[in-house]
Amino acid sequence: MRKSYQEEINRGDVFSRFTWALKNLTKPVQEIIRGITRKTIPWNRVVMGAVLVQGLLVFRLDESLFRVFGLAFLYPSKHSLLYFTLMSSSPLLLWGIGEALRRERVTKALIHALEAIGLKNSVGKLPTFIFDLPLDKWTRKLRLSRAGITAQTFEQNKGALEGAMSIFIDEFREDRLKGTIDVIYSTIKMPETFKVSDYCDLKPPTFVVGVTRSKVIKSSLIENPHLLIAGQSGGGKSTFTRQLIATLYLNDPEMKFTIIDLKGTVESQFFEGRERIDVPQEMGEAVESLEKLSRTMEYRLKLLKKNSCKDILDYFKIPKAERQSLDLDVRGIEGGLCRHLIVVDEAAEMFLSGEGRSTAEVNSAKAVLSRVARQGRAVGIHLVVATQRPDARALDTQIKANLTGVLCFPMANDASSILVLGNGRATDLPFIPGRALWKQGRELQEVQTPLLSTKEMLSLFGDEKRPNGISKHHQKNPLNKLNPEQ
Ligand SMILES: Nc1ncnc2c1ncn2[C@@H]1O[C@H](COP(=O)(O)OP(=O)(O)OP(=O)(O)O)[C@@H](O)[C@H]1O
Ligand SMILES: [Mg+2]
Repeated sequence: MRKSYQEEINRGDVFSRFTWALKNLTKPVQEIIRGITRKTIPWNRVVMGAVLVQGLLVFRLDESLFRVFGLAFLYPSKHSLLYFTLMSSSPLLLWGIGEALRRERVTKALIHALEAIGLKNSVGKLPTFIFDLPLDKWTRKLRLSRAGITAQTFEQNKGALEGAMSIFIDEFREDRLKGTIDVIYSTIKMPETFKVSDYCDLKPPTFVVGVTRSKVIKSSLIENPHLLIAGQSGGGKSTFTRQLIATLYLNDPEMKFTIIDLKGTVESQFFEGRERIDVPQEMGEAVESLEKLSRTMEYRLKLLKKNSCKDILDYFKIPKAERQSLDLDVRGIEGGLCRHLIVVDEAAEMFLSGEGRSTAEVNSAKAVLSRVARQGRAVGIHLVVATQRPDARALDTQIKANLTGVLCFPMANDASSILVLGNGRATDLPFIPGRALWKQGRELQEVQTPLLSTKEMLSLFGDEKRPNGISKHHQKNPLNKLNPEQ
């Protein structure tokens, strides 16, 4: 009787050990399958590892390895194909084991963190782990059951959760229907400043948007013909716009610029008096410049038609000698095509009448910019609008709808953030100068935008002799002093 009871226990023990082994041995395989479907396996490292192992096999160094690990008894007398395949795939298996261990660690850390913070629902239930998957090389997605806890509560506990789990959380995404919450996180901190190593090394019309914790994000006026730069005061809108202009100016020797900065900040003063850059000083001049651009646009559309081109890219493909010109009276309008960027720094200064702006002037500026936003892409006329206020009064809705690339610095309230991004994310951004969200289509990425100081601008433009980069016009005005360190 006693014996059979012992046997029972042993049998149960063997069974539980077997299920334990089965469960744990299949985990790395599950990770590999996930890695293949989600394209997260670092194939270059895995292949390099496999080549290295094959080298060991060829030189029979594997036998020494078995001996070192005390596994000599497992070493096969001859290298079968099965052994060769198993050994060659060992780097992939090691990756799978690493991922499985990581998952285990995250689960434990999560339970520990949630208990420590006391993030429980009203009946004391903790959110439970569903999965933890890599999104890219640096960012991961941890899915939890919400246990009735709102995303807002998670947001409020973000700092504590980050501290307890030693991670940096980018975002919480709630799915109310599924009752889950996704924690987008990384173990790497976002940089707080970012310098572009070589501004003169970008193929026009490419520009740098910023850096995430994993990579530098670039875009171009082909991908995003018109941009909206939004955010509350001091976020970094003008600084970003300044480096955008500098990048495009330095890399495309033909590109032209119209910079409308009716606030008259230092950023635009730097560009005054430079070849290819028009900086209207007040609303009347700005409207005049825009009306001329409207005629230019008309002319360019006809020119494209005459050359049977869909857009400026098609036109550039035609050899210069074969390009057809227009037989037109083109007062003040250049014959050829080049890209042209219109920058409006602070839309409210242009779109709200009053303070020296008549309704007629505002309406005609709106009409031209709306046309540029709708038709400018084909003819190479691009628009960048920076604004603190993204509401319909300060920024025409028609224009806003056509600004496809959106860079949003921190916003003071959800309403403004929703107007720009369609969600309240910009209110959760840390107020670090230059920290923003880059929205392209539906994709949203947190970036640290490039910092290009005035001193660096001066050396890039090769005119240290021009004190502080300000035109003579502004140097006369003692209020217009630039701090070169800014
Ligand atoms: N990418 C950046 N990296 C580091 N510091 C930055 C960055 N961008 C801006 N700053 C700092 O923040 C300050 C304010 O930036 P900026 O003037 O561009 O803000 P803004 O959004 O244009 O504000 P406003 O709406 O008042 O015009 C700058 O003087 C600079 O010191
Ligand atoms: Mg500004």
